[in-house]
Amino acid sequence: MIRLSGLARAFPGPPPRPLFSGLDLSVAPGEIVAILGESGSGKSTLLNLIAGLDRPDAGSVVVDGAELSVLDDDARTRFRRERLGFVFQAFHVLPYLPVARNVALPLALNGVPDAAGDARVASLLDAVGLGDRAASMPRELSGGELQRVAIARALVHAPAVVLADEPTGNLDPRTAASIVALLRDTLKARGATGVLATHSHAAAAIADRVLVLAPDGLSPAAVHR
Ligand SMILES: Nc1ncnc2c1ncn2[C@@H]1O[C@H](COP(=O)(O)OP(=O)(O)OP(=O)(O)O)[C@@H](O)[C@H]1O
Ligand SMILES: [Mg+2]
Repeated sequence: MIRLSGLARAFPGPPPRPLFSGLDLSVAPGEIVAILGESGSGKSTLLNLIAGLDRPDAGSVVVDGAELSVLDDDARTRFRRERLGFVFQAFHVLPYLPVARNVALPLALNGVPDAAGDARVASLLDAVGLGDRAASMPRELSGGELQRVAIARALVHAPAVVLADEPTGNLDPRTAASIVALLRDTLKARGATGVLATHSHAAAAIADRVLVLAPDGLSPAAVHR
């Protein structure tokens, strides 16, 4: 479902910041992969490359059969909108939209009429334990609840691939554990593929495979479950 080959990315200086080169990764359909690595190692950059939000200096990114480098901007935007769910490091829940409209956003962007999307939004809100908060505004929600809104939004349009950047940042350990378990269950129930960047070994433990990002690429991690 995801194939990265010979991927390299550096940010120009000064001082220049080479992040990684020669990076290879294959993720099977339905597989969940967690990526650990020090702060600044390039985990968010790697997710952005998989999402087509950033371009590699070398190498190729193929997601769900699409070679991202040959798509123009419009095609890349459409690809992202239709086939990808993204849980951002800082939620990006829109403050002026009620919870249900935040979750429905990918459906609206894909031209799905509200009437057709409402049932999906409601069932996802139920699945993340926010069935009674559909009409709440984001400012009325806790950090853990906002994180669950972000997860529901990343799944609502049934994307083939879900990318989650530090989905448990700033959460207490118990809330973090329940949120990653929820993420895993929802991905598995849908047969979706997931890549999760995290510092948390507890979060990484829900993955089928755990890798560490370093300048020479990805290698298997020792995980403390
Ligand atoms: N657009 C950019 N221009 C220049 N440097 C950048 C840019 N984006 C990221 N960097 C640098 O690249 C390095 C990797 O950043 P990235 O956000 O990918 O790390 P990370 O592994 O996700 O870190 P964290 O665990 O703290 O989230 C950092 O040193 C960062 O400052
Ligand atoms: Mg990051």
